[in-house]
Amino acid sequence: MSKTISYAKPVLTGSVQVPGDKSISHRAIMFGALAQGTTTIEGFLMGDDCLSTISCFRSLGIDIQIDGEHVTVTSGGRKAWKEPDVVLDTGNSGTTTRLMLGLLAGTDFHSVMAGDESIARRPMKRIVEPLRLMGADIRGRANGHFTPLAVQGTALQAIDYTMPVASAQVKSAVLLAGLSAQGTTTIHEPVPSRDHTEIMLKHFGADISRNGDIISLTGGQELHAAHVQVPGDISSAAFMIGAALIAEGSEIQLKNVGVNPTRTGLLDVFKAMGADIQASGHKSEGEEAADLTVRSTLLTGTDIGGDVIPRLIDEIPLIALVATQAQGKTVIRDAEELRVKETDRIQAVVTELKKLGADIEATEDGMVIQGPTPLTGAAMNSYGDHRLGMMAAVAALIADGPVTIDDPGCISISYPNFFDHLDKLTQ
Ligand code: S3P
Repeated sequence: MSKTISYAKPVLTGSVQVPGDKSISHRAIMFGALAQGTTTIEGFLMGDDCLSTISCFRSLGIDIQIDGEHVTVTSGGRKAWKEPDVVLDTGNSGTTTRLMLGLLAGTDFHSVMAGDESIARRPMKRIVEPLRLMGADIRGRANGHFTPLAVQGTALQAIDYTMPVASAQVKSAVLLAGLSAQGTTTIHEPVPSRDHTEIMLKHFGADISRNGDIISLTGGQELHAAHVQVPGDISSAAFMIGAALIAEGSEIQLKNVGVNPTRTGLLDVFKAMGADIQASGHKSEGEEAADLTVRSTLLTGTDIGGDVIPRLIDEIPLIALVATQAQGKTVIRDAEELRVKETDRIQAVVTELKKLGADIEATEDGMVIQGPTPLTGAAMNSYGDHRLGMMAAVAALIADGPVTIDDPGCISISYPNFFDHLDKLTQ
C-alpha cells in the first residue's frame, strides 16, 4: 500500500501533543517486569516497537494491562519470570532486542529472540561481546552476531567495560545484565549517550552512580514498582518542528515534549541554523519536559559532528531534509552509526532526497547538503523505516508536486497518529 500526499503551500498552526517517548516506554515495561509489585505507566507509546516489548514480557509470564495510554505491569520480580515456550518476537525493535539480551543473559532459563528482516541485519556483536565477557551463553548466526539468538541464562560476573561505540543500547544491555551479576559493573562511556536507563534505575530505587564518564552499578539489587510518566518523544516532535520551520508562515506548539539534555541535539543544531524555537513550562522532575513553540524561519547551513551526534542520531533524516531549505552548506559527519539503523540511513536519505531534486551527497560517515533547493514531487521509498516515511511526508509539505510514500504503515512503529497530527496542524 502507498499514500500520495499533496499540499499547496501549507501553513502549520495550532498545537499537538506528540506520543510518548519510545526509549522511555520500552524501559518502563522492562523495569516494571524487573520490580516486585504493580508499576503504572502514563503516556505510554502505543507504537509497534513498544508493543513488541509488551508481547515479549507477556511471554515471560508478566501481567501487562493496557487501557488507552495507561499501562500497568504486575510482576513478582525477575525471579518470577518463566521460561518462554515461544520465540520472543522483537519485531522491528533494536531496543527490545538489545536490552532484552542483557536481561535474558542472567536468567536461569532458555529463550530465543528473533525479529523482522531489518532486525536480522542489525549488528548484535556490540551487545553479545560484553555480555560474553560477563559469562553469558548466547548462540546465533555468525557466531551469535545476528538474530535469531538463543540465550541460555546463567550466573553472570560484573565487568569493567569501555564502550567502543557511543550507544545507549549497549550501555543499557550491560547495565541490565549488571543488575543480576555478581560484583560491581563499571562502564566507561567516552561520548555521552541517552541516559534514560540510568534515570529510570534510580526511579525504581536502584543505587547507580556516575563519576565523569564512568557509570557503576552493583548486582543483586531489588527494584521497587513505581509510577512512570512518559513525556512526548522529541524524536517524533522533530518531524513537526522541521515541518513548521520549512513551511513559510507557520507557528505551532508541541506540548510536554521530553527535553532530556542527552536527546536535545536537534534543538541546539536548529537554533545554530537560526531557528525560532522557544521552550516554556519546563518540568524537571525525573525526565525533563517542556512545551515548545516553533515558528518558520530562514535557516543557514551548519556543521554537525562530534559529541552532538548521539544526541540527535535518530533525527538526522529530518535534519537532512531541513538542510535542503537552508542557505549554504550543511555537513554531517561522525554519523557512521546511521549505516546500521533500521536501514542504512545515509544511503537511504541521500537516494530519496535526490529524487526530489535536493543537492545532497553521501560521505562515509554522513552527508553534505547544499541549499536552498526547491523540491519536486516524486515516488519515495520508506524502506519500511518509520523515520524515512516521516521524512518523505514532511518533504511533501514543500514539494511542488505530489509525493507518494510506499508502506506508510511503517510510521506506526514510533508515531501511530502522525498523519492525524499533520492534518490537524495543516488545516
Ligand atoms: C535507543 C538508542 C539509540 C537510538 C534508538 C533508541 C535506546 O540507539 O538510535 O532509536 O532506546 O536506547 P543506539 O544506542 O544504538 O545508538
